Amino acid sequence: MTSGLDPGSAAPVSCTIRDPRYDILFEPVRLGPVTARNRFFQVPHCNGMGHREPTAHAVMRGIKAEGGWAVVCTEEVEFHPTSDTGGFIEGRLWDDDDIPAHARLVDQVHAHGSLAGCELVHNGMASANLYGRIPPFGPSHLPVAGYEPIQARAMSREDIADLRRYHRLATARALAAGYDLVYVYAAHGLTTLQHFLSRRTNLRTDEYGGSLLNRARLLREVLEDTLEECDGRAAVACRIVVDELHGGAGIERGETDELFSLVGELPDVWDLMVGYWPDDSLTARFGEEGWTEPYFAGLRQLTSKPVVGIGRLTSPETMVRLLRSGVLDMIGAARPSIADPFLPLKIEEGRLDDLRECIGCNVCVTGDWTMTPIRCTQNPSMGEEWRRGWHPERIRSRGSDSKVLVVGAGPAGLEAAMMLGRRGYDVVLAEAGGELGGRVVTEARLPGLATWIRVVDYRRAQLAKLPNVEVALESEVTADEVLGYDFAHVAVAAGARWRRDGVGRYFTTPLELGDAEILTPDDLLAGARPVGERVVVFDDDHYYLGGVLAELLAREGRSVTLVTPASLVSEWTVQTMEQARIHRRLLELGVSIETSCAIVGAADGEARLAGVHFARESSLAFDSLVLVTARLPGDELAEALLARRGEWEDAGVLSVRAVGDAWAPGTIASAVWDGRRYAEELDAPSGAELPFRREVVRLAPLESGAATIEATRA
Ligand SMILES: Cc1cc2nc3c(=O)[nH]c(=O)nc-3n(C[C@H](O)[C@H](O)[C@H](O)COP(=O)(O)O)c2cc1C
Ligand code: SF4
Repeated sequence: MTSGLDPGSAAPVSCTIRDPRYDILFEPVRLGPVTARNRFFQVPHCNGMGHREPTAHAVMRGIKAEGGWAVVCTEEVEFHPTSDTGGFIEGRLWDDDDIPAHARLVDQVHAHGSLAGCELVHNGMASANLYGRIPPFGPSHLPVAGYEPIQARAMSREDIADLRRYHRLATARALAAGYDLVYVYAAHGLTTLQHFLSRRTNLRTDEYGGSLLNRARLLREVLEDTLEECDGRAAVACRIVVDELHGGAGIERGETDELFSLVGELPDVWDLMVGYWPDDSLTARFGEEGWTEPYFAGLRQLTSKPVVGIGRLTSPETMVRLLRSGVLDMIGAARPSIADPFLPLKIEEGRLDDLRECIGCNVCVTGDWTMTPIRCTQNPSMGEEWRRGWHPERIRSRGSDSKVLVVGAGPAGLEAAMMLGRRGYDVVLAEAGGELGGRVVTEARLPGLATWIRVVDYRRAQLAKLPNVEVALESEVTADEVLGYDFAHVAVAAGARWRRDGVGRYFTTPLELGDAEILTPDDLLAGARPVGERVVVFDDDHYYLGGVLAELLAREGRSVTLVTPASLVSEWTVQTMEQARIHRRLLELGVSIETSCAIVGAADGEARLAGVHFARESSLAFDSLVLVTARLPGDELAEALLARRGEWEDAGVLSVRAVGDAWAPGTIASAVWDGRRYAEELDAPSGAELPFRREVVRLAPLESGAATIEATRA
């Protein structure tokens, strides 16, 4: 094994040989008219950049190709205004004006010898068409997904013919952009083709409804159209839901077997998934790696065409097993490719200890839901490749001979020390505790979060390869000590601590809680437990922690009530697509849930609760109260050093900055990202007006719109 990284030059080094056990992963696979150079297939995934930031998007995909993914796909790509993705920033191929952006993406992917795939999508009744405002259409008169007060109208035969024509035209545009694969998409509950296929949404009585033969008619027609249009210039991929998870009310595995007997030989490659998007991108809290296997097993035997499948596949052993046991022909991956765009190359080069495994947290998904560039807990360069010039494996060499002290080895400190080390700086990473990892170590011990320790594992292994980074455990550092050594730069990454006074979003002044036993997440994470049996968890944080702590305490046999001012339990986990599962799990564990409700005070073993919409109070007998509200940054050392700025020159100190949670408490992803930012920006030339590059919309000619208004007035 080599280090894979040479400190200073910080470029990947490939001088080891892969384990022959993994040879199968690197066999080429024929996909109709094109050949994938290995079995790694980056399945479509959105990225919050899409048509709005096409260059940033293109460069991100190019880096995946550089990292060895033989097939690199777009996200879903709208192809006609009868179906836009509303506020979501996805791909777009409405007309020829959209082609150059796609051609740029294709060029980036081709530059590294990979195939580029385009996933055409017609969302139909899954989208309210908020942008274009054209009433959506689908197989039946049914409300659109979500709670938008809009209904899709049932498609006429003319509409069906139009849809087929739009898909054909879009295929031609995808070919003009240079794509090697064009998708026919019938999955995730998100597409008109699936809506026709499923008895749940197809209520028609004509030749497109009723029997499976009829419901599959449109899928077959579009597959045939796309094959004809591609005419051997690109492969046709079909993404298909193998089980909608609605039991007999929707598509089940048995019906998919039947479907394969009808259209199994049509596409050049099958891309399988299960359920809706929250099922498909299941977090580690709710599913293991490879959870999809029982749903996929046996399908490959029903077609001669290669089969791709997903399941948060990060372990080469699992991948090899799925291939050898005949479940899959290609390893599909979205999140593993986000967390480690160089996963294939690292396996190929025998650098398994350099793998940066996805932790299954779905922070990547939040970028899509918040319409912002994709982010990743494990890979802080994700979404920053073009606009900030960050690369998942490379970083520019150091800008000076300065020595750097990083105080605190949580996610921000680990990332900062690792990347500074790769840049070639001499770094001391001082940690007050006895192990690396900070909050990640204790949070990873909570129910369902064990995979999160990979954030530490990866960085620990990398640090061990950097002789210029010294790790000092059980080393509490004071301002006097810092000023007594010869560090030029000091990064204080000492984390944050949870408040004990109830201040948070709902209350910005401390709560009156009498002599109630108060516990914070820090107490519980450190091993403390409530004295009594009846515990109230007040969650004004709204991400995962309140719900996980309630789960922990309930599993330990306590009677738990979770109180939150939000209208949903762990409300922000809507963005990670976990919210419904969290609610269900808490109910299964017998946790009482009080939403839209706040604790307004406590005395004599009684908590006073008030509704946030209606101020009538109620009371709840309890023994202990867990407050999950807000945190305070652990920036004391940084503040102490800043207060002694006059002594810096003599001590040789040039800069002091708090980093990560010590700068502003946030997610683990934000802490890692800030650690990376610190390492990237050290010794960077200053003076740039903007912190990152952006792509500005080209102005269209004004005349046409203005002229129309004038004409109307006249
Ligand atoms: C951020 C993100 C965006 C996604 N967007 C799409 C998409 O546009 N089209 C699609 O077919 N699947 C999409 N998916 C689903 C993935 O293709 C994949 O099926 C799913 O994440 C399971 O694979 P994994 O475990 O390898 O992540 C997305 C997944 C993620 C994580
Ligand atoms: S954000 Fe989390 S789930 Fe998404 S790719 Fe990164 S580590 Fe995996």
